[in-house]
Amino acid sequence: MRNILVTGGAGFIGSNFVRHLLTRAPDLSIVNLDALTYAGSRENLRDLPVEGRHTFVEGNICDRQLVDTLLRRHHIDTIVHFAAESHVDRSILGPEPFIQTNVVGTFTLLEAARQYWLPGQEPAVPAHRFHHVSTDEVYGSLAPDDPPFSESTPYAPNSPYAASKAASDHLVRAYGHTYGMRVSISNSSNNYGPFQFPEKLIPLIILNALEAKELPVYGDGRQVRDWLYVEDHCEAIELILKSGKAGETYNIGGGNQPANLTIVETVCDLLDELKPAAASYHRLVQFVADRPGHDRRYAMDITRISGELGWKPRHTMQEGLRLTVEWFLSHPEWSAAIQKQIGYRNWMDRNYENRERPA
Ligand code: NAD
Ligand code: DAU
Repeated sequence: MRNILVTGGAGFIGSNFVRHLLTRAPDLSIVNLDALTYAGSRENLRDLPVEGRHTFVEGNICDRQLVDTLLRRHHIDTIVHFAAESHVDRSILGPEPFIQTNVVGTFTLLEAARQYWLPGQEPAVPAHRFHHVSTDEVYGSLAPDDPPFSESTPYAPNSPYAASKAASDHLVRAYGHTYGMRVSISNSSNNYGPFQFPEKLIPLIILNALEAKELPVYGDGRQVRDWLYVEDHCEAIELILKSGKAGETYNIGGGNQPANLTIVETVCDLLDELKPAAASYHRLVQFVADRPGHDRRYAMDITRISGELGWKPRHTMQEGLRLTVEWFLSHPEWSAAIQKQIGYRNWMDRNYENRERPA
């Protein structure tokens, strides 16, 4: 692993990963290909630790010619593929870009990599790796007493987002199986932390609370996710790249499974402590109409990655949430820049303005 193409490296997890890798691995260069959709921002790439080893390219993963050029010009041996449309609610209101980026985009990258790395019988770049960053949502939803998802749980994606990620996982696996491409896949649970776009639950709650806006809890607020602090996810991917087996899938989870309402209340408690307002933030909590087809529960079995690679998450939810709230409080300029974007404002109107509220 010397010359890495990171896709989607101006988004939430991708930018954390770029920062993480530049700090941890002194001898590699990163080319960061990102289309700067509403979710990607140059603001996420300010103050990188080693600017000289990072090249940012604004462009689309569906642009085959561009991807071909980047692979050859930068002698890419490793692709770490984050770029995606990532928000479930947006996929429900408008699935088309999810098919385009998540399915066609992944296919475009795989084809470009195949023709660069594996043009004939002998690989032209023997030590290549295509790592695909995926989600626990491909496995569907768990009942309260079901065991957590393992790598052999059958796929049963429920939202257009999850279905598009499942399709991309299958393509990646097929390129490993059919062409002998050295691929790996990680399926991670819900991430949170610095630089997360404030359409997702935790940053949305923090920023709405700071503006004394309502804190929208879908349905009964008792849905369960397996929350993972983003830095722990970055460590897991780095380990998979260094020591994970080609052809393997790894489940990654934080082992933190409070209900959504508990998370919202914990954020309110933290804000009451760190940024007290005239009245407690808890007064802003508002139950609103549920997400259609809302998955009830996710939980990850991390036996494989912990057994084979010795990874486990370092942060409890209490620690990670405190770090996250502190980060948002100490970076008001980041939030202001993101909130100014039309893509953010339109989404907040579209998803929340006329959403039904229980009587
Ligand atoms: P994000 O929405 O914050 O960032 C996505 C990035 O991809 C943005 O910078 C965007 O500009 C870029 N992008 C989108 N379409 C593109 C295209 N066609 N060409 C080039 N760039 C494009 O997403 P995230 O939360 O950082 O998630 C990153 C990856 O991790 C995704 O593949 C997602 O499915 C996966 N994942 C996310 C989570 C989570 O909790 N956020 C959990 C598990 C897996
Ligand atoms: O599980 C991994 C997935 O986690 C990733 O693959 C996705 O890219 C990522 O967006 C995330 O999906 P979720 O739908 O679980 O995340 P989100 O933050 O949108 O919602 C978390 C939970 O909170 C979910 O049960 C819906 C609920 N929710 C969300 C929002 C935005 C609310 O109650 N109110 C809200 O306003």
